[in-house]
Amino acid sequence: MPLIAFVSPKGGVGKTTLAASVSAVLAARGAEVIALDLDPQNALRLHLGVPIHEESGFLAGLPDGLRWQEALRQTRAGVGLLPHGHTEPKASLDLTRLLLERPDLLGQQVREMVSAPGRVVIVDAAPGPSPALSAVLPLADVICVVLLADSGSASLIPSVASGRFLGRGTLASRAALKAMLVLNQVDLGAPLSDAVLEFAQQAMGERPVSAVARDPAVAEALADRRLPVEGVGPGSEDIALLAETLAKRLDLGAPPVEKDRGRPSFSALTSWGLRR
Ligand SMILES: Nc1ncnc2c1ncn2[C@@H]1O[C@H](COP(=O)(O)OP(=O)(O)OP(=O)(O)O)[C@@H](O)[C@H]1O
Ligand SMILES: [Mg+2]
Repeated sequence: MPLIAFVSPKGGVGKTTLAASVSAVLAARGAEVIALDLDPQNALRLHLGVPIHEESGFLAGLPDGLRWQEALRQTRAGVGLLPHGHTEPKASLDLTRLLLERPDLLGQQVREMVSAPGRVVIVDAAPGPSPALSAVLPLADVICVVLLADSGSASLIPSVASGRFLGRGTLASRAALKAMLVLNQVDLGAPLSDAVLEFAQQAMGERPVSAVARDPAVAEALADRRLPVEGVGPGSEDIALLAETLAKRLDLGAPPVEKDRGRPSFSALTSWGLRR
């Protein structure tokens, strides 16, 4: 069943925030969701309510033959989580080398995860390329490439559109066809945000471009040990819309009847005419 990967050529753009939130929304919609953290920062667990001192995880245990079923933990968001786990710098390098030589150690287990009907696997990747990401990308149905609505990110959009940021050759071009660009921290009414969004839409052609508003409540949510989608505000609304777009694209079926959560209709997507 579907695998959605949150990736970026850039760090600090919101991959983990969005991966955790989209996982929670899809779980609330009735899907069985596994959130898989490929990033040695081991931060996805914090968004999903795992206490900071609990440091074990799936990738960290891979060299010792850990199976994903043994590492899986349930979270209060209803998401099954495979934390990366804490790794010392040397162990992290050894793991990178191991996955470079034997990508199937991870690829085979992820293939097992996605083989169950009705299950959605959501991957949170470290910034840039990595052997772990290369092992799972061939299994991805949608590659959510997250960038900011700033000029540094804009300079990377052509390499996202062509797939060059994923590597060279036919496989990278094929992966690029599955890319969906998510511009995060969009400032409503700021000319730069506007220009970057317009450029992104041109560069991506037929492929979807989503926008998530810059919203202090999104950043504050983690400090409060909440998910942004548990609150109200433009960021929360855009993230819920992003999850809905993904659910439609992956044919996950209709959501349960929505309760009125009193969401404001104001959002980055509304402002740009991407939705009514
Ligand atoms: N829409 C938003 N509005 C305001 N702040 C945001 C938004 N999205 C994310 N942030 C904040 O931006 C920071 C970076 O987010 P996050 O850690 O999710 O990025 P990342 O791409 O996973 O980073 P890394 O590359 O280090 O893994 C966090 O402090 C987060 O709270
Ligand atoms: Mg991250």
